[in-house]
Amino acid sequence: MSEPAGERDSRVRSEKAAELFEAWFGGGPDGVWRAPGRANLMGEHTDYNDGFVLPFALGQGTAAAVGRRAGRTLTLCSAQEDGEAEIALDDLAPGRVTGWAAYPAGVAWALAGAGYQVPGARIAIDSDVPVGAGLSSSAALECATALALTELAGLPVSHPELAAIARRAENEFVGVPSGIMDQSASLLCQAGHLLLLDCRSLETTQVPFVPAAAGARLLLIDTRARHELTDGEYGQRRAECEQAARLLGVPSLRSLTDPAETDQLADPVLRRRARHVVTDNQRVLEVVTLLDSDPGPAGLAGTYRDIGRLLIQAHHSLREDFEISWPEADATVEAALAAGALGARMMGGGFGGSVLALVPADGCGPVREAVTETFGQHGWTAPDFLDAEPSDHARRLALQWMGFEGGTQCRYERKSRISRVRSPSCGTPSTVSLRSAWTCPRRRPRCSTPWTGCRWKSAPAGGSAR
Ligand code: GLA
Repeated sequence: MSEPAGERDSRVRSEKAAELFEAWFGGGPDGVWRAPGRANLMGEHTDYNDGFVLPFALGQGTAAAVGRRAGRTLTLCSAQEDGEAEIALDDLAPGRVTGWAAYPAGVAWALAGAGYQVPGARIAIDSDVPVGAGLSSSAALECATALALTELAGLPVSHPELAAIARRAENEFVGVPSGIMDQSASLLCQAGHLLLLDCRSLETTQVPFVPAAAGARLLLIDTRARHELTDGEYGQRRAECEQAARLLGVPSLRSLTDPAETDQLADPVLRRRARHVVTDNQRVLEVVTLLDSDPGPAGLAGTYRDIGRLLIQAHHSLREDFEISWPEADATVEAALAAGALGARMMGGGFGGSVLALVPADGCGPVREAVTETFGQHGWTAPDFLDAEPSDHARRLALQWMGFEGGTQCRYERKSRISRVRSPSCGTPSTVSLRSAWTCPRRRPRCSTPWTGCRWKSAPAGGSAR
């Protein structure tokens, strides 16, 4: 039986993380953990309003190869970043660590705050979740390290609790006021399902969702426009929602079920913000009802057309009421619909990132062409396209050390950018640049070991979310 593409990508990514660990630190890791990025079918900016969201895990994810080390330090390297980060576990406080290492550091800090002391460790990261594309690369990094550190230490932390801890890392350590959706998706989603998450009760329901069965596909279009959640607009929307709830005398906007209730708000901006949250919550529940009511194979196309219609409504709401869309997203939605998409909308926090399109299975080519042409006409950087298939949650992967591969010299080759590596044979540090090959400069006797690459082979460990 052939291996599904997402599964294969995840294994390859994990093997690469193990290779990086081997090259950077010497020796093999104790294990490799991988956490996916996420997409969201419906429910945007509803999570921090105690509302509903409907995300799914992507095939793309972040792998962390991790090994114990003596002392209370985390040492990190990444195939996507230069250099190495050293983090003193007993000296963690918000603001002390910046850049990408703040995410794993924040996880260790939040775990300690929850009473879980993690051990010193070496961590090698490799990710194929594009950064800034609105696909939760940061949650994937947090969840991969959180799961790795707790499982390595044998700490009994359930996946829902881990999601809350990873969110706290992002909110309080990194300083991004995000909701609980991304970490929950990364840790709780199941392949072939959407995750219906009630962000008030944190109750979850797995909703079967296999677009291919209805002759449809999900296409993610990375508009390449970038925006950081730390930029202030995200926090401003959150503050506006909280203010609207206060003025309406409810604990959160989730308490409203009728959009007409928002008419009581005198401020037109707050009224629009609240209306988006109320209507988007309704759209989440409508999608679930559509998928729950089994129309039989003949009626499935109609169900997906209805979901497409809701996606279009959601985009209008995000553009007009929540005012977080951006020109590339609007043009993408318009071009995709004109080329036959059933529905499309901007996804994520807003002002940059990706568009999610629901497309007839044979319509992906025309949609890609139409969107690419539109970008060309505007003179924008060409968009990227990713097939989005609802995939599995974070987990540990089984890896087996297979020894060195045959070759004639001690030689380390990588296609990723790494600023410092060690010879896998003799541990000599050296420098490589993008797409270059590296030869061990010391040529010690051990370096004559025939070697052209690490040989880690992975097999899915099974394992389900606790
Ligand atoms: C970002 C945040 C999430 C959520 C979305 C918008 O991805 O991290 O918590 O608020 O934006 O739905």
